[in-house]
Parts: sequence; C-alpha cells; structure tokens
Amino acid sequence: MKNTINKTMILQKENKTLREIAKEIKDFKSPETKLLIGKMVTAMFGELDGIGIAAPQIGISKKIFLVAKDVLYPENLELAVKNKEPRKKEYFVFINPTIKKMSTKKVKDVEGCLSVRGIYGEVVRPEKVTIEYFDELGNKKTRGASGLLARVIQHEIDHLGGILFIDKAKNAKYVT
Ligand code: CO
Repeated sequence: MKNTINKTMILQKENKTLREIAKEIKDFKSPETKLLIGKMVTAMFGELDGIGIAAPQIGISKKIFLVAKDVLYPENLELAVKNKEPRKKEYFVFINPTIKKMSTKKVKDVEGCLSVRGIYGEVVRPEKVTIEYFDELGNKKTRGASGLLARVIQHEIDHLGGILFIDKAKNAKYVT
C-alpha cells in the first residue's frame, strides 16, 4: 500500500548517502533547487525538534542546508519543543558553504540529529565561525555566527562532508 502521509523521509545513520561528500549546486534558481528547498522545509519543520537539515538527510547529496530561525532564540525554542508547539516556518538557506574563520575558543554542548534519532552527545566546537555561502538567489554572502547558530551551521556543514555528530561526540548515548 502506498504511504499517503505527506512527510518527507529523513535518512537514518546507516544510510550510505549520509557518508558521501555532497556536490556543489551550480544552478541556484532552478526549479530543481526550489523543489529541493521545499522538501527540506517540510522535512525540517515536520519534526518538532528540527532546527537544521542538510540535503543529504533527505537523500540528495548536494551542498545545501537550512537552519530554522528559532535558533536565534534558544529559550523560546526549548519551550516550544517541550510543549510540542508548532513553530514559525522561518529559515535561513545556505548553499555551497565554506568556513572562512573559526574562533580558537571552543565550547561543548549536547547535540542530536534528525538522522541519528534518540542519540545525544557532547560535541566540542569553535564558539564562533564565519562562513561564505550563496543564498537561494545566487548571491554570495558572508556571515558570522556564534551561540546555537554557530553550532548548527557547523553540524550541517559536517553533513555535507559525510560527517555525523556521533563521529565527534563524547558520551553519546540513547535518551528515551
Ligand atoms: Co544532523
């Protein structure tokens, strides 16, 4: 029987696509890219705790990821997730990102991943990063980030290189 639930499937950690190096996007404004972004939006906001998603997680090995704007307000986000409230579907799009600068100061925090369901672990990452990327209109941009945004950006860029947070995490364990 066909699955009629309109939910984009998120690949889980055993899937080989998650381990590939994603390819650069060449045609930013193509219908294909628009469709991909739409699918990623649905997949990310379809999960109560989805704050970032990379294309490989839905089976498309391309260098693009989204971050929910909720990450700018971590306290509100935590509350919304706890109360299972629907969130505003607002997001940033990052295409062909490269990290240009990282702070020498590193910070540790607990991470999870939509492709590593149920497992959480502490990951040490630079506190701040500066990245170069293209937006969905093909404009080249530079952005500095700190706090949760910096962490999510680094987590998602790892996905584009075939890296999962469990490769880096300490004390990773199942949380039920
Ligand atoms: Co992830």
